[in-house]
Amino acid sequence: MKFFLDTAHIEDVKELLPTGWVDGITTNPSLIAASGRKFLDVIAEMCDLIEGPVSAEVAATDYAMMLTEGRHLAKISGNVAVKLPLTMDGLKACYALTQEGTMVNVTLCFSAAQALLAAKAGATFVSPFVGRLDDVGHDGMALIQEICQIYAMHSFDTEVLAASIRHPQHVIQAAQRGADVATIPPKVIHQLLHHPLTDKGVELFTSDWKKTGQSIL
Ligand code: G3P
Repeated sequence: MKFFLDTAHIEDVKELLPTGWVDGITTNPSLIAASGRKFLDVIAEMCDLIEGPVSAEVAATDYAMMLTEGRHLAKISGNVAVKLPLTMDGLKACYALTQEGTMVNVTLCFSAAQALLAAKAGATFVSPFVGRLDDVGHDGMALIQEICQIYAMHSFDTEVLAASIRHPQHVIQAAQRGADVATIPPKVIHQLLHHPLTDKGVELFTSDWKKTGQSIL
């Protein structure tokens, strides 16, 4: 399973790079706005930091302009994945861009029907928004299961990228259901890592080691 970082803050990426966990990055217009930085600068810097896919979302909503913006974003670096919304225009642009060899991450997916269309349009990734479905009383993880089942049954190459992750259980459940990728906010990455018993255990080992009066070097 691949971990992408869901952030537009470069510092988040630099902090976690040494862990080996960062297989890619996803951004979106809201994350870019929160960063307070120029979109194209952020994408270029992120593409220099990692080899994996960096998702950069178009702003346009019509096919022609989506194509123009997508091609412009793809020129930044070979590891740019153009992010397109799951609309008729977005899927037409997806088909055109993937035919040109550009990676496409189809975003704002909320149903298996939509995911089926994204795969048929040649999407590299499809992003079902788990957290936003949970937020309105639906079962986001059930959608991940449904899509993974359909994609496996029909050997679609599109990768299921679990998105809108709110807490560690979303990551675990996405892994259990066979999602290819989870795009995880840095905060949730830290929540995955920490356990009070680990912290307590390190404290005890350290104090008992000190009592031996020994040193390893
Ligand atoms: O970046 C795509 C997705 O992960 C964002 O989801 O619900 O946290 O805005 P959300």
